[in-house]
Parts: sequence; C-alpha cells; structure tokens
Amino acid sequence: MARRVAVVGAGISGLVCIKVCLDEGLEPVCFERSDDIGGLWKFKESPEPGFSGIYRSLVTNTSKEMMCFSDFPMPADYPNYMHHSQLLRYFRLYAEHFDLKRHINFQTTVRSVRQRPDFSTTGQWDVVTVNRDGEEDQHIFDGVLVCSGQYTHPVLPLGDFPGHETFTGRCYHSWEYKDADAFRGKKVVVVGIGNSGGDVAVEISRSAEKTFLSTRDGAWVVGRMSTNGLPLDMTAITRLTHVLTLLLPKALVNWVAQRDLNHKYDHRLYGLMPRHRLLDKRVVINDDLPGQILQGALVMKSNLQGFQGSALVFEDGTVEENIDAVVFCTGYKTIFSFLPPSLSWGPDGEMTLYKRLFPPSLECHTLAIMGLIQAKGPIMPIVEMQARWATRVIAGLCHLPPQETMLSMQLIIAVTCLFCFLSYSCPKQAALQVTYISYLDFIADEIGVRPSIFRLLLRDPVLVLKVFLGPYTPYQFRLTGPGRWAGARQAILTQWERVAHPFKTRVVYEPETRLCGLCSPWMLTLVGGDLVVTIFFCLIYLGFFF
Ligand SMILES: Cc1cc2nc3c(=O)[nH]c(=O)nc-3n(C[C@H](O)[C@H](O)[C@H](O)COP(=O)(O)OP(=O)(O)OC[C@H]3O[C@@H](n4cnc5c(N)ncnc54)[C@H](O)[C@@H]3O)c2cc1C
Ligand SMILES: *[C@@H]1O[C@H](CO)[C@@H](O)[C@H](O)[C@H]1NC(C)=O
Repeated sequence: MARRVAVVGAGISGLVCIKVCLDEGLEPVCFERSDDIGGLWKFKESPEPGFSGIYRSLVTNTSKEMMCFSDFPMPADYPNYMHHSQLLRYFRLYAEHFDLKRHINFQTTVRSVRQRPDFSTTGQWDVVTVNRDGEEDQHIFDGVLVCSGQYTHPVLPLGDFPGHETFTGRCYHSWEYKDADAFRGKKVVVVGIGNSGGDVAVEISRSAEKTFLSTRDGAWVVGRMSTNGLPLDMTAITRLTHVLTLLLPKALVNWVAQRDLNHKYDHRLYGLMPRHRLLDKRVVINDDLPGQILQGALVMKSNLQGFQGSALVFEDGTVEENIDAVVFCTGYKTIFSFLPPSLSWGPDGEMTLYKRLFPPSLECHTLAIMGLIQAKGPIMPIVEMQARWATRVIAGLCHLPPQETMLSMQLIIAVTCLFCFLSYSCPKQAALQVTYISYLDFIADEIGVRPSIFRLLLRDPVLVLKVFLGPYTPYQFRLTGPGRWAGARQAILTQWERVAHPFKTRVVYEPETRLCGLCSPWMLTLVGGDLVVTIFFCLIYLGFFF
C-alpha cells in the first residue's frame, strides 16, 4: 500500500508537494484551511487574522523563467515579472495540469501533528484536523510535509518605541496594507526597508503629501531590470557568476558590484547606503525607490526612536511633526502551533533544521518543513527541490546522515548562527539565509539530478553552454535522474524566447545587416556588460573547468 503523506496547506509549497508525492508513488492528502489554493498569492480585499496579506499592486520580484516549477514553464505570453493575480493563474494552470485539486481537503485546518507511540519504529504521525463544521478528525500518516507559510503573524514592535501610546495618528503593519487610498494628502512614515517597505513607501509617496522611509541599516537597492532590460535574476544567477564569486576575493566582487550599482544612483547621496557590503545580505528589489527620492516625494530617515503625540523622533535627533500614519514593514514571526513543542527552539519558536528542512532531533525523518528559508533567488524552485528530497527520504529512497552526525551538525549550525548574529542586525533572518545555487545543487546531488558538466559536454555541447553560462533556470534539474522530464532540454533551449515573447507587441524596424546571427539576448548581456571584465571572467571560468 502506498505510504500516505499529509500536506499541511495548499499554497504554492503545498501544491508542489502534492505533485511530487504523486511522482514518487506516495499518496498525498492535503489539508487547506481556506477554500482556495494559492496561499499568500490569493489576494484578499481585507486582512484576515491568521492568513497572509498582500497589497493590490504586488508584482513578483523574481522573473518567470527563474521562478516557475521545473517541469511546467510559464506561458510564453506572461510578462517577465507579473502581477500577483497572474501568478495565481499560473498556479491554477499547474494544479489543473497535474490534477492536484482532488487531493486537497478545503476548509480543513490541521490542529495537531504528533508522533505516534511507536514512532521510533514506524515513523508515523497522528494528525488531528477540524473541518468546516467544526468536527474533529483523527488520521494516521507515514509522513508530514509542513507547507503552512511564514507570513501570517505580523510583528508590530510598538513596545520598542517610547511614547507610542501618545501617538495621535494611526499605526499599520504592511500585512494589512492594501493600497495608498487611505494616505492621500497625509504625512506618513514607513518603518523598515525590506522588499515590502520599499514597495509600500513608493506607492504611498505617489499620493501622500509627504512620505518618510525610516531605516536602521539602509540597504542596497537594485532594480528588476538588468543590462539591455533583461530580468536581473536571469543575468545575475548563473553558474558562471556563482563560480566567480566563490573563486574571486569577496572584497573584489563586492567592490566591482557596488561600484556598478552606485553608477546608477549613488547610495550615499541617496541616503540608502548600508554598513554591510552588497553580497553580505539580501538586497531590496525596487525599480522606483531612487526615482521617488530624486523627486523629493520620498525622504529617507534614520532609525525611528520614539513618538511624542503627533511627532516622530528619529535616532539622529530630527523630529517630524504632524504625522498622520505610520506603516510598520517590520516582518513576521513564524508560528507552527500544530507541531509538537519539542520541535521548536529559541524564544520566538524559530527552528533548527537540518539543511533548513528536517528537524534533526526526530528518530525517523518523516516530517519536513518546507520553504522556511531566505535566499537571493526565487523560493519556488527551492521548495520544489525540498519536496523532491523530502518525499524521497519519506519513501526510503534517500537517507539522511545518522542522528548523531546531524545533532553534531546542529552544533555547527548553532555556531554558524552565532557568527551570523554578529554580522547581521536581524539574526532570525540570518539563520534562514542560504546561498541559492549552493543550496539547490546540494539537494540536487542528494537526489541525483544535478547536471554533470562533463557528461553534458560530450553529449550535448549546446546545452552545456546554456546550463553553465546561462541563467540558472530550474529545468536543468529535470535533465537526468529521478523525475526526469522529456521537455526539459527544449525548455532550456527556448527560455530566452519566452523572455522575449511578451515584448513582441509591435513590429520594430530592424536594420538590414545584423551584426551577427549570434545576437541572442545572452550574448547581448555579456557584450552589454563590461566587455573586458566579461572576457576576464570567462578566461578564469574556462581555466577552472577545462
Ligand atoms: C509580499 C511578498 C512578496 C513575495 N514575492 C515573492 C516573489 O516575487 N518571488 C518569490 O519567489 N517569493 C516571493 N515571496 C515569498 C513567498 O513566501 C513565496 O513565494 C510563497 O508564497 C510561499 O508559499 P507557501 O505555500 O510556502 O506559503 P503560503 O502561500 O503562506 O501558503 C500557506 C497555506 O497554508 C494554509 N495553512 C496554514 N496553516 C494551516 C493549517 N494549520 N491547516 C491547514 N492549512 C493551513 C494557508 O491557508 C495557506 O493557504 C513573497 C512573499 C511576500 C510576503
Ligand atoms: C521577494 O520579496 C519577498 C517578500 O518581501 C522576499 O521574502 C524575497 O526574499 C524577495 N526575493 C528576492 C529574490 O529578493
């Protein structure tokens, strides 16, 4: 009989887990609290406690070819960065294509997940769910994949700011922010410069009388657009750049990249300059923030210190009077109320997980926590890879190191975290941070789907160029090994066509003599960049591999 796996949540992590379970011959049973799929990407007109909330104008910060599931490219006519409603449509297509919905029990909440008494031999779990009529059900499962998300419990750190009870205006969290209507003609302070903070501040600054953006650390702000207007993640996240950042001195890479970025807008001049270097931390992805600062619509401020009636005091001693509203973009805390308390760790219930996936203390690795991770890349390919690994571990096809090894690695994790605490101002985020390519390649190795440069070089030299010099698109993990997809090669060969497709809305004049037939977007990227630097990098790269 097929092993039964409980999937908690039908957001994108839940969907891909159902699909991967089916691939591995497991029987997925998904429980979703709401009445629809999509999780975070299902927009709600008003905030609902316990659910995640997104704003009306949200557009992805990762591009379609990089963020799609590895065996289901996004439609060619999709724009490269899309509105949340369009991404939700893609998830609906995915669910339909692989017929996933019949495995989902909607309006059913998972209340508790506990090891069964014979857990150490069977690895089984007792799962209690509550359905729409409030009735409890008991289930037994061979595995549990936790896909309940991490953006549901906003952190509103009012207590950190003396005088907050005297504030005469309104305080919001970005979780409840929908659009700027309520802020028209007002004076607004936005606190925190994450991706949400940047978006919210820019949008409010278009209709408010004055908008301030307060940040403790500052940030490196990059646009979605790279050289020649190509998606930034496609040009930045390649195996080539990965190898280079590993090989070259970090200080040099940082210097070159920061210099490049400051060419567009000097972070010091714009009041954005952080203390950390570019590669040390997540960047803020925002195309309009510098422009709004240039127009004076958005004013950068230092860290918020406290409130005095309608005035806000900042750490540099400046005071802004008559503030009508403050929007805190101060993140979320992760809560898994249904999991055994023994799996949680740390004051905020944050978890230590082996490879950010498996709780190391369990005797049997039949439970995995999906997507509890931060990376400088799209989250979907990460969750898909995690799902492929976790299901193979549950199915007994992959094995984790013995518990002692993992527990001793826990020590290493703890030390690494301590190290991160020192270099990051937000230790919780630091603990979740992974290096995108290293992480995916590690798991790909574990399940045997990492493309081998040497084997590919002999068999398919065209493909090898695309895979190793081109964007790190997820299709490459479907070329070989378990879960191989016959369309993967074609998907890689046509990825730039799908990038170009949505632009082809007007016939443009093309001069008779093209420079060469080689002018693929990829070539353009290289040529458009610093030619000398590119050649230099390529030489090192070739020297390394051949
Ligand atoms: C504003 C914002 C923008 C983002 N933009 C991007 C982007 O552009 N690119 C990118 O790669 N990532 C982005 N992310 C990251 C984002 O987290 C992921 O893209 C993704 O949405 C996570 O999906 P998930 O399925 O893990 O969680 P969620 O989407 O949160 O889904 C969790 C699901 O589980 C259900 N659930 C929860 N608890 C229970 C329970 N006890 N029982 C039953 N069901 C339950 C919920 O109802 C929900 O449907 C963004 C995040 C935010 C907050
Ligand atoms: C995109 O935005 C979300 C939400 O702020 C963030 O978690 C994620 O890391 C961002 N992606 C990248 C590649 O920066």
